[in-house]
Order: sequence, then structure tokens, then C-alpha cells
Amino acid sequence: MRIPVIAGNWKMFKRAADALDLVKKLTPMVVGVDDVQVIVAPSFTVLPSVHGALSGTRISLSGQDCFWGEEGAFTGEVSPGMLIDAGCSHVIIGHSERRQHFGETDETVNKKIKAALQAGLIPIACIGETLQERESGDTLAVLERQLSFGLAGIPEEDAGCLIIAYEPVWAIGTGRTATDEQAQEVHAFVRGLLARIYHPGFADRLRILYGGSVKPDNIKGLMSCTDIDGALVGGASLSAESFASIVKFGK
Ligand code: 13P
Repeated sequence: MRIPVIAGNWKMFKRAADALDLVKKLTPMVVGVDDVQVIVAPSFTVLPSVHGALSGTRISLSGQDCFWGEEGAFTGEVSPGMLIDAGCSHVIIGHSERRQHFGETDETVNKKIKAALQAGLIPIACIGETLQERESGDTLAVLERQLSFGLAGIPEEDAGCLIIAYEPVWAIGTGRTATDEQAQEVHAFVRGLLARIYHPGFADRLRILYGGSVKPDNIKGLMSCTDIDGALVGGASLSAESFASIVKFGK
């Protein structure tokens, strides 16, 4: 049985006061939701204060990225151990915005996933095709490449805690969600790939999240799909009301 995950990726939004305000509003709204794992991913600078504000709640904290080294002369980077210090249990890796704007590749994603696992963080590993790739019929090949390179050399005993997030790039921030059928088709394909890379029993246990314009009014349909185990939410995670309503999709 796969426990659903609803994760909010705040991206480069919310300075300290607004971040704390959001958490203070959100926490009472999701009290009593114990059948869904809730995660928030604020920006690096507010992680420790958000961590403090989450204390005593069931909400987990995630970084939005990390470097693959533990320390060294890497100006501007944040290591997995530093994220743990700041209170994180999870880290988003390979988000399409990092692939698009910051030169993230399947190879760096692989290094980061390995480093995060080694430090004891749970990676939320993102994959997804662009509009051009979808329109030219390359969706499944792109996902296969991203997943097989991203997970290369990661043994089953380390990979068991991984969370995969399928985020079609054309659905991110566009208001254009994949239909339930489109998302389910890809999720089933991704689970099949995981079964091939590892084995079917293993793939059955991994959570695969959908991301891309998830809102209170489309979460129910998405969550009714067999292979969709949760959501990675951008814009709608910036308001306590809409994020709480997504978290309470089953209520
Ligand atoms: P939106 O929900 O704003 O489309 O963003 C999705 C996303 O990129 C989450 O990581």
C-alpha cells in the first residue's frame, strides 16, 4: 500500500514573514489528515525558520535542490548535510526548471540523488518531457532516458525510499494539466520502467507523484488513477487554503 504524498514546491517565492505566515495558516488546516504525507519545500534561506514552525506537526520539510558534494569550494551551493542541518528530510532533485535554466543534466541528477541518499535525505526525483518532445512523439523515450540515467548505479537497497515526480514541462505553471488519462498512461509506463530497472515488487512500492498545474479542482481525478500516488504542487501550494484543499482531496 502506497501512502499518498502531497508536496508543495514554493519555488522562489515567500520571504521569511510570508513563509511563516503560510505555515501558520496551513498547519491547523491539515491537522487530523493522517493518511497523506505532507511535504513543503521552501527556499533555502527560510528552511530553519519554517522547520521551527513545523515542529509538532506531521508536515515534512524539503529542500528544492542540493549539490552532490558534502563540502568544499563550491560557492553558492548547498550540500545534503546542510539541508539535514536545516531540518530537511527530503530534497527535490532534477526539477525541470533546474534542467531548463541552470544546466541540470541526467548526469548531475544522478550524482545529486546518490549524494542525497548517502546523507540520509529522501530524494523527490523529477522527470518530464517538454511540449516539443511530446508533440514529436518522444515522451516515453525522454522519460526512459531521464529515469535510467538518473537512477544509474543506485542499488535497490538504497532506492527504496525514493519518490519520483512526473512533471510534464508543458503543464507547469500553464494551467494546462495533463488529463487523468495522459498522466495515468505515463505513470504506468514509469512504474513499468522501475520494474525493469529493479523488479516489479519494488516498483509497486515506489510513490510516483504527478506535477503540473495541480489545483483543488483537478486533484481528485488525478488521485483516482491507479498509478498516481500524489502531487508535486507549485502555484497552488503558495496559498494555505488551496494547498490544504489539495491535501484533503479524499475528504
Ligand atoms: P505548478 O503547480 O505551478 O504548475 O508547478 C508545478 C511544479 O513545477 C511543482 O514542482
